[in-house]
Amino acid sequence: MFGSLHFETPISPRSVVKILMKIDLAFTPFELEKKELEGKAVVVIDSLRATSTMLTAFENECAGFIPVATIEEARELSANLKDPNILLGGERGARPLEGFHVGNSPRDYSPGKVRGKVVIMTTTNGTRALVAAREAEEVFIGAFLNLSAVCRRLKESGRDVIIACSGEKNLFCLEDFVCGGGMIACLSADGNSLVMTDAARAAKILYEHFSPDICAMLEGSEWGQYLESIGLGEDVRICAQIDSSCFVPVYRDGKVSLDR
Ligand code: MLT
Repeated sequence: MFGSLHFETPISPRSVVKILMKIDLAFTPFELEKKELEGKAVVVIDSLRATSTMLTAFENECAGFIPVATIEEARELSANLKDPNILLGGERGARPLEGFHVGNSPRDYSPGKVRGKVVIMTTTNGTRALVAAREAEEVFIGAFLNLSAVCRRLKESGRDVIIACSGEKNLFCLEDFVCGGGMIACLSADGNSLVMTDAARAAKILYEHFSPDICAMLEGSEWGQYLESIGLGEDVRICAQIDSSCFVPVYRDGKVSLDR
C-alpha cells in the first residue's frame, strides 16, 4: 500500500513522518535499460535540447509528442496515420530532417506551428532515452525549464526515483547530469532525507558547483559549444531559463502529454 515509503519511526500521533526516497541516476539510455524500472518514477532529461523543446512546445499549446527512435519509424507512422494534425519533428546532428515540418529548436515550436498539433519526434538522444524509460511506473519530462515543478511532482509521487540522462550517443554529457543534480538538490532541500546512489550524490555536488551560472555551464558544455558553432547559440540560452515552465509532461502509452 505504501509503495516505496519507509517509516523511520513507528507511527504515533506525535511523531513526524519523514519520507525516505531512494534516488538513482543513469548517465545514458544504455545504462537505464540495465536498471529495474518497475514501480519507479523516471525523469528523462535532455536539457540541450529535446526536453526543453518539448516544454516550449507545450507552453505554445502543442497537444503532445509521439517519441520514436528512428527517422524511418517517424516517416512510417506519419504515413500510416495520415492526420493533418500530426507533424513530423526532429533532428540529426542538431539539424532539421528533410521533409519534416519542424526541427529540434525550441524556436521552431511557435504557437502558429504547433497549437493543437501532435508531433512525431525523433532525436539522437532524447527520444531514445524516453523509449528506454517506458517500463517505469511514471515517466516525467525534465529540463532546467521545469526543474522545481518536477521536484514538486516527484514529492507528490513519493516513489523511488531514477534520473535518466539522455547523454550524447550513449556517452556521458555534462548538462543532463548537472540538471539531474539540480532536481536532487531541490528534493533534498526541505529536510527530506534521500538515499542517494553515488551517481546521484555526485550530480548534486556538481550542480552546486555550477548553480551560480547555469547558462555559462550550458554554453561551455561540448554540445553547447557545438550548437553555438552551427549558429544555434540562442537555443542554448533558451534552454538555460530555469523554472520558466510549471508544466511536467508525462510519457505514457507511447505519448508525451500534459495529462496527469
Ligand atoms: C538530442 O536529443 O540528441 C538533442 O536534443 C539533439 C539536439 O540538440 O538537437
